[in-house]
Formats: sequence, C-alpha cells, structure tokens
Amino acid sequence: MKQMIIKGGNTLSGTISIGGAKNSAVALIPAAVLANGISTIKNVPNISDRDALIDILELLNCQVTLNNDELVIDTTNLNNKLIKEEYSNRLRASYYFMGALLGREKYVEIYIPGGCNIGARPIDIHLDGFKALGATIKTEGNKYILSADKLIGTDIYLRFQSVGATINLMFASVYAEGKTTIHNAAQEVEIINIAEFLNNMGAKITGAGTNEITIEGIKELNGATISVVPDRLEAGTYIILGALAGDNLKITNIIPEHLEALTTKLKEIGTHITISKDAITLSKTSKLKPINIKTLVYPGFPTDIGQPMSVLLTQCDGTSLFEETIWENRMGHVPSLNKMGANITVSGMNAIIKGPTKLKGCEVVATDLRGGAALVIAGLIAEGETIITDVEHILRGYENITEKLTSVGAKIELKEI
Ligand code: EPU
Repeated sequence: MKQMIIKGGNTLSGTISIGGAKNSAVALIPAAVLANGISTIKNVPNISDRDALIDILELLNCQVTLNNDELVIDTTNLNNKLIKEEYSNRLRASYYFMGALLGREKYVEIYIPGGCNIGARPIDIHLDGFKALGATIKTEGNKYILSADKLIGTDIYLRFQSVGATINLMFASVYAEGKTTIHNAAQEVEIINIAEFLNNMGAKITGAGTNEITIEGIKELNGATISVVPDRLEAGTYIILGALAGDNLKITNIIPEHLEALTTKLKEIGTHITISKDAITLSKTSKLKPINIKTLVYPGFPTDIGQPMSVLLTQCDGTSLFEETIWENRMGHVPSLNKMGANITVSGMNAIIKGPTKLKGCEVVATDLRGGAALVIAGLIAEGETIITDVEHILRGYENITEKLTSVGAKIELKEI
C-alpha cells in the first residue's frame, strides 16, 4: 500500500510532458491479439493498467517486450485460455479481450472486469452487440463464455454512445462476414486511434470519430505499428492545476483541439491561458468567475475531467454547478474536499460548489482514479500537508505523477506503508 504526501502552496513553473492516453492504450494492447504476428505500440504510458494487461497477454502465451514506452507484442503462439478473475478484475479494460478474442478465436472465457467504483458499469450494450453479430453468451457465476460458429456483419444500434461497447464491437466485427455498421457510436478521439491500429493491421474501418462506424469484415490481419494518441485527460488534470498554481506552467505533447471543451470553460472562468500548436501554458489568476459544468460524451465536457475541475470551482468567486451525466457515483472525492475546507453540497449526480474557500491539508482518501487526481490538485494548492491514501487508484492512470510534479516545483512524494 502506498500513500502520497503533499506539502501544498508552491507555485509551479516549467514543463510537464504528457504521455500516451490511458483509455487508448488499454484498448490498443488487447487489440494486438486480433493480428497474427508482431505488433508494436509506441508512446505507451507507464501506468499500472498497462502492466495488468501485459499480464493477461502473457497468460494467453503472447510474447511481450517492453522497452521504455514501446511495447512489442508477438501473438504467434496465442493460447486462448480462461482469463481468471484475479487477472480480469484488476481493471475495466480487461473486457476488451472479450471482443478481441471473440473476433479472432470465436471463443472467449473471461471473468467480470474490475475498474473504478464510479457507477454500476453494466456491459449489456457490449453483450447485445456481440449477440447481434451471432455470438452466444453464457454466464457461470462471474464468468462469461462467449462463442460463435461464425460472426456475421449487421447493423448495431447502441442505446447509449458507450466508449467501451463501440471499441469492443469494432474488435468483434473485424473478422465477421460482410459489413457491420455501429450506429450511435461513441466519438472519442481514442476510438480514432484504435481504428487506425486495426486499419494498419489490414482491417477496413471507416467513420471512427463520427457516430456511425462501418467495418467491412476481412479474413486476415497482420501485426502492425501504432503510436498512442496524447492523453487529453492527463493533460486536462495538469492544465487545471496550472490555472490554480501555475506561473507559466507549460503542458506539452498535447493536441489542443482534443481539449477544447475544457479550454473554453477555462477562458469563461477568466484563466490566463496561451494555446499553441502542441502546448498550453497557464498562470494562476487571482479572481476566477464561477461557472456551470455539465459532463457529456465527446466532444462535450469530459466526465473524466469533471472531478479535477470541481477543485478549480472551489476557488471561483461565487456559486458554481457541477452536473455529472455519465456516472452515478462520481462524487466520491467530495467528502475529502469538504474535509479540506471546501463548501460543496452534493445532490445525486449534481454538486453545488461555493467559493472561494481556503483549503487546508489533512488526511484524505482517493476513492477512484480521477477523484484521486482531484485530491492531488487540492493538496498542491492547500495550506500545509495533505496525505492521500489508496493512491493505487491514481497510479492506474497517471504515469510518473510524482516525478512530473516534482520537476515543476511541487513537494510531493510516494511512501510505502
Ligand atoms: N453503459 C451501460 N451499458 C454498457 C456500457 C455502458 O449502461 O454496456 C453506461 C455506463 O454505465 C455509463 C455510460 O454508459 O453510465 C458510459 O459508459 P462507457 O461505456 O462509455 O464507459 P466505459 O467505456 O466503461 C470509458 C473510460 C472511462 C470514461 C468513459 C466515458 C476506459 C477504460 N474507460 O469507460 O474512463 O469515463 O469511457 O468517457 O476507456 C477514467 O479514465 O477515469 C474513466 C473512468
């Protein structure tokens, strides 16, 4: 178990370089099993979700070599075994092996996925899509058995623009006979990255990034190379920190267009922000205006930046409203923020945030990945020492977080307890 200890109040200057996107990498790694041969994934973030997926690949007898941020995966000797619960429940994205193995092998046995406790997180949209392609689904306790004699392309209408279901159904349909169209598909930028990897392998996917994706089934996919798109959520977290504690804090290696929902709101608040081709530079502003935030599917305001953003709202001069629309349980960080001195009232999936409030360091608990990131921001602007427990949640998705923050002047360390 680890704790994070932060001494708050320092001004942060210098450059933070953003890594590859967690939510893209965690799908690209399982996608490798769709190809027969060697694939290379570049710009892979150094996060514990990466390691959990490598363990699953090795369980399936794939040969995996990690060299800094480059992952080489050889699937030549793939052995399609049961993915046991202690492997699947370490992260949400283990469920991408459902679509990938069903697609390639027409058979998969896997236990339920894990992931942050931010809502019920059903997978009915994935399963309905697999069934529409011709798969049979059986459950034995927590285990799913998906099988098909053959998969046949069809029209699939998602009842919600689910990111995971869109990706899983792209995986399951690449080898299906004929054409599959995913209607009401999620449009997140990570999905474009994943479709590009599959197309590099030889797949025929068009429309990724729009709400209608078409997949022409093919017979063979070969190993390919892809670079993980920059992590807009890691970037968003540090950008918000820059607005609160920066003195020309530069966030580089980003694609600013992917962050427009956030930067538009930051301008509305009155933040000093300079946007260039692949970087955003921020400095702390003394008077911030309150605003309303409503999280939405891409290109709306990302749910994954809502919790970090709520810390910024505690420093705005007046009352802000933070509405979460994707996850039922994304307010887990609020009791900790209130313990630090914030004035936040939660009602269901909404929070009313009154500011500005002085934050004071104390012992708080990371209940989930982005909630934990919100507490890191809060600790860095608080007076005194903040101790964050359950930081494993944070390390699942933020690579080298203490090193990156220390390099710009933060006082932050990880301690084994
Ligand atoms: N949903 C269903 N049934 C399904 C699938 C989803 O009801 O079969 C519901 C969910 O319960 C939720 C909504 O649809 O209310 C959105 O779920 P989605 O499937 O889009 O989310 P996901 O694929 O499980 C990914 C990211 C999340 C991010 C969401 C939304 C990964 C591994 N996770 O989750 O990231 O919040 O998309 O953008 O890519 C994070 O990074 O902190 C994180 C939680």
